[in-house]
Amino acid sequence: MSYAEQKDKILGFIEEHEKWRSSTINLIASENITSPTVTRAVASGFMHKYAEGWPKQRYYQGCKFVDEVELIGIGLFCELFKSDFSDLRPISGTNANQAVFFGLTQPGDLIISLHTSHGGHISHAGFGSAGMRGLRVETWPFDNEEFNIDVDKAAQLIREKEPKLVVFGGSLYPFPHPVKELAPVAKEVGAYVMYDAAHVLGLIAGGQFQDPLREGAEIITSSTHKTFPGPQGGVVIYKNFGEDVAKLQWAIFPGVLSNHHLHHMAGKAITAAEMLEFGKAYAEQIVKNAKALAEAMAEEGFKVIGEHKGYTESHQVIVDVSDLHEAGGGWAAPLLEEAGIILNKNLLPWDPLEKVNTPSGLRIGVQEMTRVGMKEDEMKDIARFIKKVLIDKEDPKKVEKEVFEFRSNYQKVYYSFDYGLPE
Ligand SMILES: Cc1ncc(COP(=O)(O)O)c(C=O)c1O
Repeated sequence: MSYAEQKDKILGFIEEHEKWRSSTINLIASENITSPTVTRAVASGFMHKYAEGWPKQRYYQGCKFVDEVELIGIGLFCELFKSDFSDLRPISGTNANQAVFFGLTQPGDLIISLHTSHGGHISHAGFGSAGMRGLRVETWPFDNEEFNIDVDKAAQLIREKEPKLVVFGGSLYPFPHPVKELAPVAKEVGAYVMYDAAHVLGLIAGGQFQDPLREGAEIITSSTHKTFPGPQGGVVIYKNFGEDVAKLQWAIFPGVLSNHHLHHMAGKAITAAEMLEFGKAYAEQIVKNAKALAEAMAEEGFKVIGEHKGYTESHQVIVDVSDLHEAGGGWAAPLLEEAGIILNKNLLPWDPLEKVNTPSGLRIGVQEMTRVGMKEDEMKDIARFIKKVLIDKEDPKKVEKEVFEFRSNYQKVYYSFDYGLPE
């Protein structure tokens, strides 16, 4: 195949992907779609520029327009999260976490974070970025029944081990973490309190879920593309926590990045404006939809986690499918993909790490389908589609046709300046 033909093939796959994705019910809890305006910013000439350092104090020439955008973006993020500082430069959530680990800890220091089986992100783990920074990692004591950190045991652990940094937040958590309860204990031993909001940043922006900076955290790290519906990227949002602020800033640049991706920075800035304008309605609808989907799935016969707590307070619905097949989520997720329903298998707290490919759970996120205008009634339809495939064992290809038909009515990206609020 000639190079030109390979180029055409690549473009063809991109087009096919876009068409297919907009036909499916995407329930991946860590994804979202950007508005046309944000998409335009990301596909702009900002992608061809370098801009190391702070706006107006760059190490590169030619940044006069880029600087103006970054200053607007910093202001919007500070307003949205009521923070003293925000830094749009990190290029991913992991990159933001690395910056905190590099800036505020030394190899050999101890941190406490959530175990991967309990919903912690790999960057918080001994085998991930934290461990590679040379940090020792203890994990939060976890209450499986409450699906949350065990406050009393965690307080005891902090006092006993005196960590340098404690990390809240994770990749699987339907209920807010006990920051209010544990941040004062962390302060007793002089630990920094970091909250990784990668999953819930859009909910925090809309005043839902929890408000880490008011509850005692001093630093929020995050991705910018999960419930926060921006382009892929990262951000660090923080209070003025004294002279160590400079260490964090130095860790972001030149510690863990040199150039930041200016087209993504512009997209993040516009998304912050969208969230200031439409974020409250968006976040409220996400939580309503997640609760509606959880209830509908329970009614259809699924084992949904957290019934006694109303199933969820975030964008996530967690379902245990281990009783439907021995491979659990490892069986269910690919089967649903054949039916045009995209989600991921997930370890549940009682699964050993070795079950990573055949875990008990499915993790479902409703933020993207909320953004295209779906509400509680559509969540019932989605629960029925999932039941047809996993419980009724209908042919997934037949269900796919129904899914595509259903989804064809939801093609606009709401909670944006392009389309405003859904009806
Ligand atoms: C809690 C948490 N932190 C960090 C990340 C990493 O974000 P990124 O993929 O932007 O590096 C994720 C990604 O899923 C996450 O769930």
